[in-house]
Amino acid sequence: MLIATLFPLTVLASTVTYDLEASWMRASPDGFERSVIGINGEWPLPTLYATKGDTVTVTLKNSLGNVSTSLHWHGIFQNGTTNMDGSVGASQCSIPPGSSLTYNFTLNQSGTYWYHSHLKGQYPDGMRAPFIIADPDMPFKNDYDEELVISLSDWYHDFTMDLAKSFLSVGNPTGAEPVPDSALMNETQNLNVKVAPGKTYLIRLVNLGAFANQRFWIEGHQMKVVEVDGVWTEPKDASIIYLAVAQRCSVLVSTTNSTGANFPMVTSMDTDLFDAIPDGLQWNTTGWLVYDDSKPKPAPKVLDTFDDFDDFTLVPQDRLPRFPEPDHTITLDLYMDNLGDGANYAFFSGQTYVSPKVPTIYSVMTLGEDAANVSVYGDNTNAYILEKGQVIEVIINNQDPGKHPVHLHGHNFQVVAREAADTGDAPANLTDAGTPGLPMRRDTITLWPTSYARVRFIADNPGVWLFHCHIEWHTISGLIATFIEAPLEVQKSLKIPDDHLAVCKAEGVPTAGNAAGNTVNHFDLTGENKSPAPLPAGFTARGIVALVFSCIAAFLGCAVIAWYGYAPLKQ
Ligand code: C2O
Repeated sequence: MLIATLFPLTVLASTVTYDLEASWMRASPDGFERSVIGINGEWPLPTLYATKGDTVTVTLKNSLGNVSTSLHWHGIFQNGTTNMDGSVGASQCSIPPGSSLTYNFTLNQSGTYWYHSHLKGQYPDGMRAPFIIADPDMPFKNDYDEELVISLSDWYHDFTMDLAKSFLSVGNPTGAEPVPDSALMNETQNLNVKVAPGKTYLIRLVNLGAFANQRFWIEGHQMKVVEVDGVWTEPKDASIIYLAVAQRCSVLVSTTNSTGANFPMVTSMDTDLFDAIPDGLQWNTTGWLVYDDSKPKPAPKVLDTFDDFDDFTLVPQDRLPRFPEPDHTITLDLYMDNLGDGANYAFFSGQTYVSPKVPTIYSVMTLGEDAANVSVYGDNTNAYILEKGQVIEVIINNQDPGKHPVHLHGHNFQVVAREAADTGDAPANLTDAGTPGLPMRRDTITLWPTSYARVRFIADNPGVWLFHCHIEWHTISGLIATFIEAPLEVQKSLKIPDDHLAVCKAEGVPTAGNAAGNTVNHFDLTGENKSPAPLPAGFTARGIVALVFSCIAAFLGCAVIAWYGYAPLKQ
């Protein structure tokens, strides 16, 4: 089964219009039936198509009844339209049941993207699909006969926010993330992809998952990488694509010259990410390149080792050289720790993100000159002001033993350094040694365990842009920073449409003032949304672990111990 596609309602010169209505429906992609978020009565969601230069108008109607929603256009730069980015709390208010919101933006890029809800924990309930932007002048257009889109994803049987409740609780002090129930390709299993012999296909891979990075390979077929995250690259051979959540990769694949056999195509979740592997977990799913339906569909061979393609070696097809030394360096230390409620949170340099009372874009629009002062954005938004035209370098020190796919809105970035696992923090004096002169660019990179990366971009896109780990569990536990780029420029050029203000009103969310909603004293943050206080002195994360485990061991005494243990944690 190929994923459904939705062609635009109208194609007028260069305006594409989509009317989307979100509602709950039932689906069983892996044999287990559950409620999922569909669009226009369909799930999987339609793949959307547009062409570079188009103006896209999408009206999203929320007919979910019980929950708010939004749509984010992952990887789309939104030049001049930061308020169309779809990030709830940063660029808009959530859309309550019964309300509609129109997204309107112009595409000045091409390649493989996706769209998903950007309201805490919602997209893994099914609100996610590819978004393909064609380009009549694309570099490889003469090198293939046909295009295919294959999404890879993990899948859960429970609602994300139900899982999130136990994930982010004193009962899970180590922050073990919920393990997916299965893996999917094009939101199904046993996917059949019909191909013809002697042809070349451009296969657009998109990882729509919540947590699991995936390895993808096709038996008997070499892949040639030509795109990562909307950036065309010089072609490079690959046998296994390692695709983190939110990443995309296009590969050219030539089919064999006969219809004598069908070939397994595998996506396999990186189980290193899982704290424990539940009994019976099928972390792979297999599909087939089908040359002849009447021939058998063989089971895949078991691989002992993975020859992962290293995206760091890619060279962009436009050969854009490394940006000059940065004007502004932001260092983000990434780690996990427990707060006073006993739960395990994620931090960038000491702050765990909490959505402000006023979505950040509305603070930018209403604070006049003070919008250029970072303190108005509050203590828990991890806010940084970027000045127009500056070369920005972000150094991310991953001090956590897990892998983290980090994503920047509104830009792609050059990956000027990325180290292997266990190489520690970035050295104090960063040298150019070992950094590529023509670094690959993309909008999401994987940080390897306890190591670092340096990414660079030019602050040429005024707006409010989130920088976050794309593992949905970690966005829930606070692994988000807010980059506020040229706020005074944004004030001058941006107009907020009435329907955007109307959904805020319907949600009861203020659209003026600082992060706390204070319109009089911009530096008074009384009443702002805050993370829980730190643990009381002397009460360590280890103490919580011990408490929880002794609780499980001594079942009879559990109630008393829990009562005793919880009491001092109350604020
Ligand atoms: Cu795929 Cu913050 O987004």
